[in-house]
Amino acid sequence: MKKVLIGLAVIALIASCKKTSTTETTNPHVANAACGNCHTTEQSQWANPLDLHALSAKDVLTNADHNTAELLNDDCLKCHSIFQYQLGVAHFVSPVNQIGSPAGTWTALNGGDWQATKCEVCHNPASTDSLRLAKYGSMLDGQWTAAYIKPSSMPAAYQKIIDLSTGDTSTYIYPNQASLRVQITKLCNSCHDPADQGSDTAVIVGGISLGSQGGDSRAYVASNHQGFGCTDCHAGHTFMPVDPLTTIACKNCHTGPKTGKVHTNHWQ
Ligand code: HEC
Ligand code: HEC
Ligand code: HEC
Ligand code: HEC
Ligand code: HEC
Ligand code: HEC
Repeated sequence: MKKVLIGLAVIALIASCKKTSTTETTNPHVANAACGNCHTTEQSQWANPLDLHALSAKDVLTNADHNTAELLNDDCLKCHSIFQYQLGVAHFVSPVNQIGSPAGTWTALNGGDWQATKCEVCHNPASTDSLRLAKYGSMLDGQWTAAYIKPSSMPAAYQKIIDLSTGDTSTYIYPNQASLRVQITKLCNSCHDPADQGSDTAVIVGGISLGSQGGDSRAYVASNHQGFGCTDCHAGHTFMPVDPLTTIACKNCHTGPKTGKVHTNHWQ
């Protein structure tokens, strides 16, 4: 029995070597390639429930609070599952023209066609640029085209800075827009609208107005965090916040545990 198993293992090994040599001559970086078969680390981080970029159609499109505040429309797909933009939102959920039927209820449809923010939303397989970073389809909910936008063609990245001791606010434009961390920040901003702070009533903390506490923006920070890009603080592919106590760039200031928030427009 053992011998048979070893024999099988050898055959499997030969088969897998053969597979490797075929892929060496063909570039695997094409649209709809099974990216995750080779990039297993990124695939498992992306598929982890901690990374909301893999949310299902049901999660995104049947949220009663969200759908009551804003009617479902095709633009939802531009940030939530852009490769399916041409199918239209009605392909994924019903009803789309009222606040639910019965009131407050929606049904998700064709969930298997939904691809969420998959690898090719942020990576152009055909690109020769560093890390192949590019955004497919549109900037925010702007004009859609079946093409990639490179970070170098995206609007300049900036932060909205508030000094928590004086309340002074300013706009900080990263000085080197071509640096990798800023290119990545531009990519994040192509869905996380840096200008959208929401329109709730302003919140006052310690006598200082932090403005509205909502929206998709994560560009609002206190002056201590001026100059950091999104991925200085958010780990690759899970996009979970890093630990400031063990990250070199943060250690000068963070020597002990503290309580509080980083994004001043989501302070509560
Ligand atoms: C057959 C295995 C395989 C598949 C499938 C594959 N890759 Fe890769 N990928 C590699 C290898 C090997 C490298 C490193 C060498 C290179 O840059 O080509 C790489 C490199 C990369 C890099 C880094 C590039 C750089 O400039 O440093 C990115 C990003 C990437 N792949 C994304 C993707 C995406 C997105 C897909 C799906 C469309 C994909 N890969 C499919 C094997 C694969
Ligand atoms: C311009 C890009 C963009 C568009 C268009 C968009 N979203 Fe979002 N959506 C986001 C981002 C970014 C977040 C994450 C919010 C955050 O910053 O925490 C989000 C979060 C959500 C959430 C989870 C958080 C919550 O609000 O409870 C739901 C549900 C959602 N969106 C549904 C929709 C629907 C439905 C539409 C269409 C009516 C839509 N979105 C249109 C970018 C977008
Ligand atoms: C294609 C649009 C898109 C791009 C590009 C994008 N995001 Fe998101 N992101 C979203 C949406 C939409 C959500 C909310 C998920 C939901 O509820 O549907 C989200 C959720 C998140 C979250 C909260 C949940 C989590 O996954 O931990 C973080 C953090 C985040 N994004 C960071 C980033 C960073 C950092 C970048 C740039 C590297 C980025 N995002 C690029 C659309 C995008
Ligand atoms: C100085 C560090 C820092 C920077 C820079 C930063 N973040 Fe965050 N981010 C955090 C921390 C810490 C949290 C969790 C606590 C909070 O909400 O403040 C967070 C939370 C988030 C969330 C909500 C996650 C959730 O689970 O609800 C999103 C979305 C997000 N960040 C996106 C971004 C984007 C996009 C950028 C770049 C424009 C960015 N962040 C820049 C540290 C940072
Ligand atoms: C929301 C945008 C986004 C999505 C979706 C995304 N990536 Fe990435 N990826 C990035 C960014 C930004 C980097 C640059 C390095 C970093 O911050 O982790 C990166 C880096 C990489 C690299 C290079 C890693 C290295 O260590 O050099 C590979 C390979 C890669 N991604 C593959 C994938 C695969 C496979 C998927 C799908 C499972 C995927 N990515 C989904 C944004 C994304
Ligand atoms: C110049 C000093 C300074 C640097 C550098 C700095 N921080 Fe902070 N950080 C602060 C201060 C002060 C606060 C308290 C409130 C505020 O300003 O947001 C804070 C608050 C925080 C908080 C919320 C409170 C907590 O600790 O639970 C997080 C998370 C955080 N910072 C993460 C980071 C990360 C990640 C980095 C590195 C990428 C970083 N910080 C770099 C000064 C700094």
